[in-house]
Amino acid sequence: MMQLATLLALGASSTVTCYAVDYVGCDQTLACCTAMLASLDKLTFETTPGCGTKQNVLQVTVNNRTHASWSPYQHDTGSGYGYELKIYNLGFSNATFPGSKICVTTRSPCAGPDDICYSAAVQGCRYSFADTSSTTYCPVCSVYSPTSPADACLFGRFSEGCAAIPELNPPPPPPTAAAGGLIRTHECVQSNVNVPYGVRNFVSSDTTDQQGSPATALCFTVAAQSCAATSYCCDMDFAKVEIPITAGCKTHLRRLSINGAPVSYSWGFYNDTFLTVKFNNLVTALPNPVGATLCVVVRPSECALPANLCYGGRCQINVFSSNNKCCPATVFGG
Ligand SMILES: *[C@@H]1O[C@H](CO)[C@@H](O)[C@H](O)[C@H]1NC(C)=O
Ligand SMILES: *[C@@H]1O[C@H](CO)[C@@H](O)[C@H](O)[C@H]1NC(C)=O
Ligand SMILES: *[C@@H]1O[C@H](CO)[C@@H](O)[C@H](O)[C@H]1NC(C)=O
Repeated sequence: MMQLATLLALGASSTVTCYAVDYVGCDQTLACCTAMLASLDKLTFETTPGCGTKQNVLQVTVNNRTHASWSPYQHDTGSGYGYELKIYNLGFSNATFPGSKICVTTRSPCAGPDDICYSAAVQGCRYSFADTSSTTYCPVCSVYSPTSPADACLFGRFSEGCAAIPELNPPPPPPTAAAGGLIRTHECVQSNVNVPYGVRNFVSSDTTDQQGSPATALCFTVAAQSCAATSYCCDMDFAKVEIPITAGCKTHLRRLSINGAPVSYSWGFYNDTFLTVKFNNLVTALPNPVGATLCVVVRPSECALPANLCYGGRCQINVFSSNNKCCPATVFGG
């Protein structure tokens, strides 16, 4: 989606190596593509031992401004050590990232572009971008040199390794970070960062069903969340909420309610093991979602336990926009 071109390296007692960010496009039917267009938070260079220490990396700038969120990182590969240089908290999207310039000031033995970006595995430069601080997507890219075709960044690749590497100085996690392992029912951006709505306070309580029989209510509330105006999903509306349910629990569901009042609902059928229950038409039914309490009411049974009711043992709640392009997911339990 993005790629880097090396701009210049000036020699002295320190060296400044700059990278220009270029847009190369990607297949927008792929979730990783739409997610990376919406949000770009981190750039990670595979690097050499000389650049994998704060001693030799003096400064990072982004668009001529000092950028404080970076750290070299050393990790045990099992057969030795691997080194990375991470630049995070970038807060870009496709609307803002192309044309940006990222510069790294280093000193010997981290002496320039060949040292800053080097993967022993490919014997050349390799880097990755990640969409959010919780890294749902992380395409791995090789460097673009002016003579190579502009297709240096690979798309549609989900690299587990990217997600597994912990941060040295992690930025504050988003509320209930929805990392990997999400159930995907639609091609839409599932990140719950940089969206206007958050889902909070998932709790279970006793209630009664439509016949006055005892039942369990599993409820959550909707909160306002701040987002960068330029981010892909910041202007999303609140049109639908979808929750994957274990197929065997379908008949135990009694009703759905919003702010205590019963509402109509529908099912989404996917396969023999799971389906989804949906709060629909919320633009009309719930024009002001912030502060609302939404509940799923279940007959007393094994299915009243969230870990049984929700498919996969944890409850994933997706809020959808009317155009189905944004579907921030929040996961509770598990
Ligand atoms: C960064 O500084 C250079 C040189 O002063 C200038 O040409 C360029 O426009 C600046 N870039 C940004 C993004 O401010
Ligand atoms: C991404 O940004 C580039 C450069 O500004 C622009 O040409 C392109 O149309 C954008 N792509 C999408 C899908 O918004
Ligand atoms: C049903 O779909 C889920 C999610 O895509 C998948 O993990 C599971 O293996 C599927 N089960 C069957 C029986 O196909």
